[in-house]
Amino acid sequence: MARKLAAGNWKMNGLRSALAEAKTLADMFPAPSVDILLCPPATLLSGMAEMLSGTSVEVGGQDCHTAASGAHTGDISAAMLADAGAGYVILGHSERRADHGETDHLVSLKTTAALAAGLVPIVCVGETFAQREAGETLGIIRAQLSGSLPEDCDPARLVIAYEPVWAIGSGKTPTLAQIAEVHDDMRATLSARFGDAAADIPLLYGGSVKPGNAMEIFDTSNVDGALVGGASLKAADFSGIVKAL
Ligand code: G3H
Repeated sequence: MARKLAAGNWKMNGLRSALAEAKTLADMFPAPSVDILLCPPATLLSGMAEMLSGTSVEVGGQDCHTAASGAHTGDISAAMLADAGAGYVILGHSERRADHGETDHLVSLKTTAALAAGLVPIVCVGETFAQREAGETLGIIRAQLSGSLPEDCDPARLVIAYEPVWAIGSGKTPTLAQIAEVHDDMRATLSARFGDAAADIPLLYGGSVKPGNAMEIFDTSNVDGALVGGASLKAADFSGIVKAL
């Protein structure tokens, strides 16, 4: 069975003063029964990793380049994330797909780079509302999984996050039956590719997860945790989600 993971994605939020929230969160969970991860903006990564060293809360990046180093102004390599203290990296988030034109193929190259640097990639997939309305959800998710995971992907070092684009930051969530349908289908898709190892791939749900709806989402079939945006910024909110897991 997949290990449970509560992952917070701070996106482009947080100045150095926000590191206190990370410390407060870590102090609340000295020995948690689930994995806890915070992915701050790159400017805070090193400082957060140092602050959380020796605690139960891990740190991750929000993106990486496909190359290990080189002339890529403004970019960060997976090795640099690892060097700064990251153990994970979010890849293919719908905001990067929309804002930076990231394709499944690019995400697969980034996934390869992350694995080579020793990071665990959290590969994001999800349909738009128009795609759901058109009955295309499962096909879209299968295609994104197929295109975003490289040939040599190691299922033992992989996390998948299902994030319906329309649920992100909107306060709207799919029904529990809709979440179960997608997560069951993702497990089946991954099983067809990776065999028994697919059972241990954590499948996160993301999109307007709050302390108030976390428990019922975590009780849903094949949901092994959450990728949380807005509600991960404050320890008081995120702790409620961690406790629900
Ligand atoms: O990566 C996190 C997701 O985009 C969810 O964001 O919890 O603010 O809806 P949200």
